Amino acid sequence: MGIKIQDVAYVRFGAPDLDSMEAFLAEFGMARCQRFNGRLYMRGLDEDPYLHVTHQGEPGFLAAGLEAASIEDLETLAREESVSIDSLDGPGGGFVVKLTDPNGFHIEVIAGRTRVSSIELTPRLPGNDAYGTPRLNAVKRVARGPSHVKRLGHCVLNVKNFRESEAWYKSRFGLITSDEINLGSPEQAFGAFLRCDRGNIPSDHHTLFLLGTGNPGFNHAAYEVADFDDLMCGHDWLKEKGRHHEWGVGRHVLGSQIFDYWRDPWGHTLEHWTDGDLLDAAWGSHRATIQEALRSQWGPPPPSTMGS
Ligand SMILES: [Fe+2]
Repeated sequence: MGIKIQDVAYVRFGAPDLDSMEAFLAEFGMARCQRFNGRLYMRGLDEDPYLHVTHQGEPGFLAAGLEAASIEDLETLAREESVSIDSLDGPGGGFVVKLTDPNGFHIEVIAGRTRVSSIELTPRLPGNDAYGTPRLNAVKRVARGPSHVKRLGHCVLNVKNFRESEAWYKSRFGLITSDEINLGSPEQAFGAFLRCDRGNIPSDHHTLFLLGTGNPGFNHAAYEVADFDDLMCGHDWLKEKGRHHEWGVGRHVLGSQIFDYWRDPWGHTLEHWTDGDLLDAAWGSHRATIQEALRSQWGPPPPSTMGS
């Protein structure tokens, strides 16, 4: 039963002003792929035609898109869920199976989007540090400007009942627990970082993070940037532009990534991250404490507003 999704593809939001959203996302490090019929599609460096979609309208989180391995997998899912396969409306076309999770979140499982040409980064010089000094007779200069968003890495959802949502997502999409957060015993699970089962092909430590807050809502979506310098350049850029900084810069414990969280003009939280864990299916599943989930290896503690 179910299929094995390969990654998260995009998040959809509503916003009343596409100009303002595009200006923010450009400063965040994405580029316009297309804008038409009241919809804005933004891309990153990779070949995905879009990673972020905005529909002109009331502000809010509308849907998350998950990438299936094939059209055949979409057919399997559609048959098991007794729903149709629709054309995916957006650059690159493709197909979609639309589902609604136990919290009322709209989940779009997609396949068959036509890829676009990737955008090349300028080559990076190696770093000199205590572990080695490979950069000789070459000066390092980092260009000021926005971060370079490569891809969407994960989406975090606050859910009504963690076990109910966990079962819903795992049974349909083959997700594996990387770290389950316990408040003392397995019966008191508060949430889990879930990764894609791609066999021996490593996946991000988490593609979906479900948090059993009891109050369903979008928590954040997280975009991978080029590297640590790139994340810090983007931090300065967004700060200079007067954008709303939420939390960071720091290094998480679970997932290990260096993070920096920002809010869009309507308060949706988007994360920049780099240097996260990549784990294959054999890495298995682990348990962690709420302290490990919230604590950073370095960096400031989370603000009370984080995740709401
Ligand atoms: Fe995150």
